Amino acid sequence: METSSERPMGTSQQQDKAIYLDYNATTPVDPQVFQAMEPYFKEHFGNPASAGHRWGWVAESAVTKARAQVASAIGAKSSEITFTGGATESNNWVLFGLISKIREENPYEPIHFITSCVEHSSIMKAMGAVQKMGVEVDFLPVNRYGQVEIETLRKALKPHTKLMSFIWVNNEIGTINPIPEIARLAKEAKIYLHTDATQAVGKIPVDVTEMGIDLMSFSAHKIYGPKGTGALYMRSKDPKVQINPLIYGGGQERGLRSGTLNVPAIAGFGVAAEICQKNLPLENQRMTELRNFLWSHLQAAIPGIRLNGHPTERAPNNLNITLPGHKTEMLIPRLQKMGVSTGSACGTGAMVISHVLTGIGLTSEEAQCSLRLSLGRWTTQEELTQAVEILKGAW
Ligand SMILES: Cc1ncc(COP(=O)(O)O)c(C=O)c1O
Repeated sequence: METSSERPMGTSQQQDKAIYLDYNATTPVDPQVFQAMEPYFKEHFGNPASAGHRWGWVAESAVTKARAQVASAIGAKSSEITFTGGATESNNWVLFGLISKIREENPYEPIHFITSCVEHSSIMKAMGAVQKMGVEVDFLPVNRYGQVEIETLRKALKPHTKLMSFIWVNNEIGTINPIPEIARLAKEAKIYLHTDATQAVGKIPVDVTEMGIDLMSFSAHKIYGPKGTGALYMRSKDPKVQINPLIYGGGQERGLRSGTLNVPAIAGFGVAAEICQKNLPLENQRMTELRNFLWSHLQAAIPGIRLNGHPTERAPNNLNITLPGHKTEMLIPRLQKMGVSTGSACGTGAMVISHVLTGIGLTSEEAQCSLRLSLGRWTTQEELTQAVEILKGAW
């Protein structure tokens, strides 16, 4: 399956030559994905739980196919994938589902979780909520690139540590955490490792089995699939991960997440995952070249510009930049022809100082002078040349 050559509406330059450089916030649905979803809104509208007739069978077989496509893209078995409403839901479920399981067996057992100070808000805030439930949480500091250091992690382990949860590719600064190394430590210590791989899947090689990951959250809308759909991977053996169900009801998703499945979205997620898997090496190379092109041209055009995050251990599509002394708040009105982000897109839209940027040591003043540019499947070199001109003029 090839990447669609047809450019989705809205990323094209028809909109008054607007340039979308916010692919980390969300991606347009690939036209092939849209095509794959369409029949499940129309003639194949059945409920996959309807086991007694053809409408149900067709829907059920679409879900089975998508589950295999999604599993294959991350090196998992179909039975290890549970469809959810997105990565936020998957992230929350891991924490609350594990606590519920542990407390069901022993209400007085102390529980300790380890995470970092540069996680996505769906982990940060959920960790804050579990603290209120009496769970001890350590938010580890990271190095100046945003990576968790193995020694820091080793020192944080306690006899009652039950989970470590680290973002794989940081959504703001693009830094890649050493997840395979962390996984080895987790295995040695017999602690579950969960990773939020929302920005990793489709961008860097991800193989949960080979890399020894126990639980992994990811989302369809970051890989050219529909919004509101995601998955949680849970290892089925060595160790078999056990967490309590997220939602109780009709018993869908092996009783773990009840509720009628969103068949069109799941079918689209499957195709999106398959396209990503097939195109990963080429896409990764193309993104890296474009990103390097953008960075070298920005450096030439804007003296004093700085890169945030790791110089090489970073997602191929992400640049996070700071121009000290120039607040991006003032810049945004002058960047109307560009879609860029001053922080996480999942924020409130208000000017919130990024905890990720301050977490890697920027002052709040510097954090306010920072911008995230994220490239994607339909980004062209011409667009990047124009983007540099626009930024140069605005800054
Ligand atoms: C790293 C990361 N985790 C979680 C999420 C939330 O994903 P979703 O929108 O599927 O809930 C995002 C989205 O911005 C993300 O970038």
